[in-house]
Amino acid sequence: MVIQDALLRKVRDRTAVVGVVGLGYVGLPFAVEKAKVGFRVLGIEQNPARAAQVNAGENYIGDVQDEELRDLVARGLIRADMDFARIPEMDVIVICVPTPLTKNLTPDLTYVESVTREIARKLRPGQLISLESTTYPGTTEEVMLPILASSGLRVEEDFFLVHSPERVDPGNKRYTTKNTTKVVGGVGPASLEVGQTFYAQTIENVVPLSSAKAAELVKVFENTFRAVNIALVNELTLLCDRMGLNVWEVLGAAFTKPFGIMPFWPGPGVGGHCIPLDPHYLEWKAKELNFNTHFIALAGEINRRMPEFVREKVHRVLNQRGVAPSRAKVLALGVAYKKDLDDFRESPALSVIHLLRADGAEVVYHDPHVPTFRDGELGMESVPLTADLIAAQDLVVILTDHSGVDYAWVVKHARHVLDTRNATQDVRDGREKITLL
Ligand SMILES: NC(=O)c1ccc[n+]([C@@H]2O[C@H](COP(=O)([O-])OP(=O)(O)OC[C@H]3O[C@@H](n4cnc5c(N)ncnc54)[C@H](O)[C@@H]3O)[C@@H](O)[C@H]2O)c1
Repeated sequence: MVIQDALLRKVRDRTAVVGVVGLGYVGLPFAVEKAKVGFRVLGIEQNPARAAQVNAGENYIGDVQDEELRDLVARGLIRADMDFARIPEMDVIVICVPTPLTKNLTPDLTYVESVTREIARKLRPGQLISLESTTYPGTTEEVMLPILASSGLRVEEDFFLVHSPERVDPGNKRYTTKNTTKVVGGVGPASLEVGQTFYAQTIENVVPLSSAKAAELVKVFENTFRAVNIALVNELTLLCDRMGLNVWEVLGAAFTKPFGIMPFWPGPGVGGHCIPLDPHYLEWKAKELNFNTHFIALAGEINRRMPEFVREKVHRVLNQRGVAPSRAKVLALGVAYKKDLDDFRESPALSVIHLLRADGAEVVYHDPHVPTFRDGELGMESVPLTADLIAAQDLVVILTDHSGVDYAWVVKHARHVLDTRNATQDVRDGREKITLL
């Protein structure tokens, strides 16, 4: 009680020192939010370039304001270290490290486990640990808690442990960390109380749950919901292709209904660190209970098939134009997985580029947000988008609908455009040169 009360007091009067492990898409904006309300934030970031950038006040994440970070670093409210030496100084430790999949689509918890071991080595009474990384139900209690308890300290008495999944939608200007409702589940009531109090300092709405496991399931369910609905409209796209119907027209009309439906749009597949990966965390955990999550398997299958469908459409368009795919010049327009972002992790655009290159096509790409990328053996540089470049291509394939691109101008100069995102919906002239997905 004494330990919990002391921590609650520090959290409420914001003298608590907040540690953030992993200063990436999730961790850095989180560090900024906390520092902005007066908490001193100590980051731990294993990437030396990122740690140095933070300490120089240089921003590298789209959702963070450059001046805001510079100012907070200058005022001594944020600093980054590469090792775990300062763990004892922290009152709250928030973990935002990656949770990838192995090649066999099983959870890879190496980052979470290794960070938890580092924390356990230096754990002291009066600390709250919160896992924000997305993971399967049971990770906090079944994987992290035994490691932390090996320190000899008692959970709920000496230290506190919660799961509070990050729900940020990168690039979303309307819903940011501050006004996106946060869910928190503790491994016990004392942990929950500290966790809820901590998050309520910066977030308008905090929803308490009965367990960390429930909080873990909330997050993987949300991402599964997206994956399944995207798969549904992607499957409709395949059907509309056979029926000779325009899927964008059909969906646009369906979404005019003000209730009972919500908009999801087709595309060349799913990307990013969440939608293609997280549902498989749940699928894997369900298998332990001899339970098959049919929707997850099906959605994954359909969404992963989409780059192949894009390739098929590229072949069709090129054939109609009398160009062999093996001799075609193709411009891939956009490689980020989502509009106006620089994130190309798991991007379906990369799969499309690999497939077309394997067919022998000469592929170049332009992306205003991704100057270069490396994906396995393949490293490419964005080419400048000029009228001459566009005109020299047999086909322009729009793979990301970045808003900074003038699509009417692209269509004007292109011989033909395959638009997998309906980015050209407002283009009036030259529609005969556009094929939609
Ligand atoms: N990106 C999103 O939109 C998003 C949204 C919600 C939840 N999430 C989840 O949040 C978690 C983090 O995702 P992200 O997109 O921020 O990843 P990221 O790769 O952008 O950031 C993770 C950071 O952790 C660092 N790191 C890795 N191991 C470390 C270690 N041992 N010690 C210190 N730092 C270490 C990496 O160098 C990197 O900078 C994942 O579980 C992800 O599923 C991501």
